[in-house]
Amino acid sequence: MQIPKEIDEILRRLESAGYEAYLVGGCVRDRCMGKEPHDYDVTTSAFPNEMKRVFITERVIETGLKHGTLTVLTAIGGVEITTFRQEGSYSDHRHPDQVQFTRALKEDLARRDFTVNAMAMDRRGVIADPFGGQADLADGIIRCVGDPRRRVEEDALRILRGLRFSSRLGFAIAEETAAAMEEKAPLLHFIAQERIFSELCGLVLGKDCAAVLHRHRRVVQTVLPELSLDGALERLKGTPAKETLRFAALLMDSGEETAGVVLSRLKVPTAFRKEVLLFIRESPKPCEKTKKAVHARCARIGAEAFLKLAVFWGKDEFYAQTVAELKKEKACLSLKELAVDGKDIQALGYSGTAVGQALNILFEKVITEELPNQKELLLSYIKK
Ligand code: CTP
Repeated sequence: MQIPKEIDEILRRLESAGYEAYLVGGCVRDRCMGKEPHDYDVTTSAFPNEMKRVFITERVIETGLKHGTLTVLTAIGGVEITTFRQEGSYSDHRHPDQVQFTRALKEDLARRDFTVNAMAMDRRGVIADPFGGQADLADGIIRCVGDPRRRVEEDALRILRGLRFSSRLGFAIAEETAAAMEEKAPLLHFIAQERIFSELCGLVLGKDCAAVLHRHRRVVQTVLPELSLDGALERLKGTPAKETLRFAALLMDSGEETAGVVLSRLKVPTAFRKEVLLFIRESPKPCEKTKKAVHARCARIGAEAFLKLAVFWGKDEFYAQTVAELKKEKACLSLKELAVDGKDIQALGYSGTAVGQALNILFEKVITEELPNQKELLLSYIKK
């Protein structure tokens, strides 16, 4: 696998200025697994002002410079270059109190979370792996670098990162690491809910999520105490890897009200919350397999949501085919497609809220196929 030429150029520039420069973290892990990385992080022995000098002719973003990060803008997007950093203290269990730079790669790798994330690779493909990351990759193990209790105390989010990697990669968490995660799980209360939500998304999307949730249920219950896991595990296995579907599968047994409480606490985006709650509410009521029933249900909850929801009712082509037919026929699936609009209703002498009420009555008649979606007929019905 080739390193993109823009990244290679960054490494080359740093090296020719006399500094060490490596790819580091997730991109090295992914490459070692034969996967194309989704982004590249660079680490270097050059100190912040030295980096600036090396890239003086480039377009850069300096906002992270205080913490040792310079972003170089390239044709393939911004690339973060960070000076080797040493461990510092973390009194808030999330951010280091102060950043200390170092010239030693090994010190930088030593402060990282997991061995599989603590490898560096130079532009010739030579890998620095002082903590056995390659062996853990080969064995399928997530293991903290050094003392796991210390690692997760520094940044409690690492507990959920570990679960996420385990779920996504199908790796087991090393015994001592898992024990430290469980012991330190209460520190997750220091972590912002948005960050927890983002890690949970990655976790539930992973191929091994049911096994990971089961194995590490005590950790999971720290952030989701309302969860009733037993039914969720089975359901998750059969649910496609879409975030809202997986969250619905996870929270289904807790009921709509409790799920609402959980989602509010996690500060999930409103559209996400609505969709999950809709799935939880609607999935126990499978749609009858008639075109009429599909039409009415799609119109009430939206065709896209309906199609996602249908996965809870078993793999059935009927729903997908029927929705496709309805769309092809330009069936009335929302007020937009109703053959009359507000102006038509006003022209009959209605005003204010009565306009909306009249439209809703007509919409209901059309989606339940009691009236055809034809302007004249609808208007004469409402006149009566
Ligand atoms: N890292 C860490 N502790 C954290 C977050 C990150 O030690 N809490 C280090 C790890 O070495 C990690 C690197 O910073 O590999 C980059 O982190 P990030 O971009 O968040 O994740 P990736 O490992 O790149 O994984 P992915 O992007 O696939 O989630």
